[in-house]
Amino acid sequence: MALLNTDDFRAAARRRLPRGLFDYIDRGTEEELSLARIRAALDGIRLQPRILNGECPVSLETAFLGRRRPTPLVIAPTALAGMVADRGETKLARAASRFGIPFTVSTQSVEPIEDIRRGAPDAELWFQLYVWKDRARTAQLLRRVAECDCETLVLTVDTQMPPKREYNQRNGFGVPFRPTPRNIADILCHPRWLWQVILRPGLRHGMPSYGHYPPEFRSGLMSSTTAEDLRLDPALTWQDLRALRDGWRGRIVLKGVLAAEDALRARAEGVDGIVVSTHGGRNFDCLPTTAEALPRIAGQRGALPELIADSGVRRGSDVLKYIALGALAVQLGRAPLWGLAAGDEGGAAALLEILLAEIQTSMGFLGARRPADLARSDG
Ligand SMILES: Cc1cc2nc3c(=O)[nH]c(=O)nc-3n(C[C@H](O)[C@H](O)[C@H](O)COP(=O)(O)O)c2cc1C
Repeated sequence: MALLNTDDFRAAARRRLPRGLFDYIDRGTEEELSLARIRAALDGIRLQPRILNGECPVSLETAFLGRRRPTPLVIAPTALAGMVADRGETKLARAASRFGIPFTVSTQSVEPIEDIRRGAPDAELWFQLYVWKDRARTAQLLRRVAECDCETLVLTVDTQMPPKREYNQRNGFGVPFRPTPRNIADILCHPRWLWQVILRPGLRHGMPSYGHYPPEFRSGLMSSTTAEDLRLDPALTWQDLRALRDGWRGRIVLKGVLAAEDALRARAEGVDGIVVSTHGGRNFDCLPTTAEALPRIAGQRGALPELIADSGVRRGSDVLKYIALGALAVQLGRAPLWGLAAGDEGGAAALLEILLAEIQTSMGFLGARRPADLARSDG
């Protein structure tokens, strides 16, 4: 069956991936209200068309974080993309770089940033930081990142606690992986994934693990690790941000900002950009949606960091909706993973191509020559 939109790729991913892994990517938290609300909010937005504007769009080009870029898209950080496909992170970075789209490497990726850089030399790599309890090891990690020609550091500030995802428990999906009759049966029902992502690469270079962990902690996702030092620090403060700002020479983006006061404070602390995000509805079920928070932040008087938005983007028109609400750029989380699951690097690239074509079509109907021309029509 031809894959024509994000939902088609999602359905293909569902067939290809073990249920535990598919649900980990796809679902939300607790009642999954946030997930539904994000979608409902996006569906409720209408965009104001203008007429007789000549050729539209002239281009999808836009500028953010100090560079002109061919599209307003960014690939969001997603942990464990290397469980979706062998060398999954490198494949996503390469697919993104075909379109000049930055790819954000997660602290919790399977491949370390050095390998991704080697495999995708032309990619614009951003790095997403989860601060480990052991700050010395965190500083060491940042030195490695800086050596990989990575300018933009994305500090995630909305994951103070481990989220409650009951489906993961029921599916037996977790790190370390603990075999149960259910998760073993799930994996055995997906022999192609088992061979291509676990066994074949495993024979060459061992079981997948968190690639950024120091070697002494890198025991594989299958075996138990006592990495207390590498747990995410739940008690970050503005003071920590200041220390990071002092130590990092490139740009800093805060990810997971939903309050206007925090956005203003971030700018005052020297932050270059923020991602207005509900973490795709995966962390906390009672948050305002991005579509609610974004215009409140964008409408502030005073100096703001540059605004990036994410959560729930499934169509090109969703990208334009966040731009109409004030974002300069928009991140994709799950969608590229579904592309990767459905067709490896080519699948991720095909998915991005479809989304970019949808953006073009929508801009044509709206009479928007460039992304910055967009405006909202409801209210
Ligand atoms: C499987 C998965 C893993 C994720 N891992 C991370 C992560 O390691 N760090 C982070 O800041 N955000 C992480 N996120 C959140 C994304 O960066 C992004 O905010 C979210 O997925 C956007 O929503 P969308 O998936 O609806 O596009 C993850 C999301 C998914 C789906």
